[in-house]
Amino acid sequence: MTRWLVTGGAGFIGANFVRLLLRERQDAEVVNVDLLTYAGNLENLSDVEGDPRYAFVRGDVIDPAAWSDAVGRAPDVIVHFAAESHVDRSIDDAHPFLCTNVLGTQSMLDWTRKKGVPTFVQVGTDEVYGTLGPDDAKFVENSPIRPNSPYAASKASADLLVRAAAETHGLRTIITRCSNNYGPYQFPEKLLPLMITNAMEDRPLPVYGDGLQVRDWIHVEDHCRGVLAAAENGTAGEVYNFGADGEQTNMSMVHRVLDLLGKPRSLIRHVEDRKGHDRRYAMGFAYAREALGWEPQVGLHEGLSATVAWYRAHEEWWRRVKSGAYRDYYDLMYAARLAGDGAPGDGEHSGAR
Ligand SMILES: NC(=O)c1ccc[n+]([C@@H]2O[C@H](COP(=O)([O-])OP(=O)(O)OC[C@H]3O[C@@H](n4cnc5c(N)ncnc54)[C@H](O)[C@@H]3O)[C@@H](O)[C@H]2O)c1
Repeated sequence: MTRWLVTGGAGFIGANFVRLLLRERQDAEVVNVDLLTYAGNLENLSDVEGDPRYAFVRGDVIDPAAWSDAVGRAPDVIVHFAAESHVDRSIDDAHPFLCTNVLGTQSMLDWTRKKGVPTFVQVGTDEVYGTLGPDDAKFVENSPIRPNSPYAASKASADLLVRAAAETHGLRTIITRCSNNYGPYQFPEKLLPLMITNAMEDRPLPVYGDGLQVRDWIHVEDHCRGVLAAAENGTAGEVYNFGADGEQTNMSMVHRVLDLLGKPRSLIRHVEDRKGHDRRYAMGFAYAREALGWEPQVGLHEGLSATVAWYRAHEEWWRRVKSGAYRDYYDLMYAARLAGDGAPGDGEHSGAR
């Protein structure tokens, strides 16, 4: 068995990655370490909860000593997704981003070294490269690091600490950087799920500024397959960019969502632009294609249609997120077991060890 430790597995991409691992790697056992911040939702993984190859441990990446014993045997691979991930929140208050994304990553690197974990994968973002003009070439792995938001700066700092750990201590680290993801289980503060769910409720769709910011949209499954390929076949010390040749303006994405839902464009409301809003990101992924044999498989129209259909079919999921009811799930399903009330499971962690 290959033992994977996934941080942030109760979030959007982490949950999709855990599901992919359990589905596609029969020899994988997965421990999901997640603090369950507002962005962590164990309902994202309710379908794999009973899988004996899966375990959940509630813990903060800043403090591995507090949860290390609960994890048990050291993993073979760490895939580090856990982060504060919402740019707007970083503009309001950068400190949680420095704590989790910078100090948390250093703590995970220290724990990796202490436990002798063979591989550490840092899940990074295209935002570390800053912004492109309309005619600029796409970002490549050695494009300058020029983050423009506190979120992007904290992720860039994390990448640099990963690099430093590899150089200083000889850790086998791999950094992936991906463009904007969309797909099932995304927290509805992010553009697409916010637009989809607001449109379904006939509520206004707030669009920043002129809405002409360009992003390279990638389906979350494609990103997760890329992270898996990098973890299994990547070269130590390398960086791999993932994108989808999916450049679209935010406005075009909103129009597509409205069209798929049969809702009027009159729902769109332009609101004051985000401070320092990057105009364009686009990822060159020739290196990942060549070195990992990876390329995106989900076309934008197909992926977006499937995503809209998923939110339509999972109205209870997003309504519980929007109302805050999802916050009770951990207490009901996990914390009660600590009190020994006879509920299934046996502790703060559950499933496979
Ligand atoms: N969403 C994107 O489009 C995108 C693109 C490229 C890279 N990324 C990166 O992928 C990773 C996952 O992004 P996401 O969109 O799934 O984020 P998310 O906000 O949906 O999930 C983050 C998860 O991390 C957990 N977490 C936060 N702080 C923690 C801490 N201190 N200790 C343990 N767990 C903690 C949260 O509870 C949550 O489950 C992030 O590192 C992000 O920077 C995201």
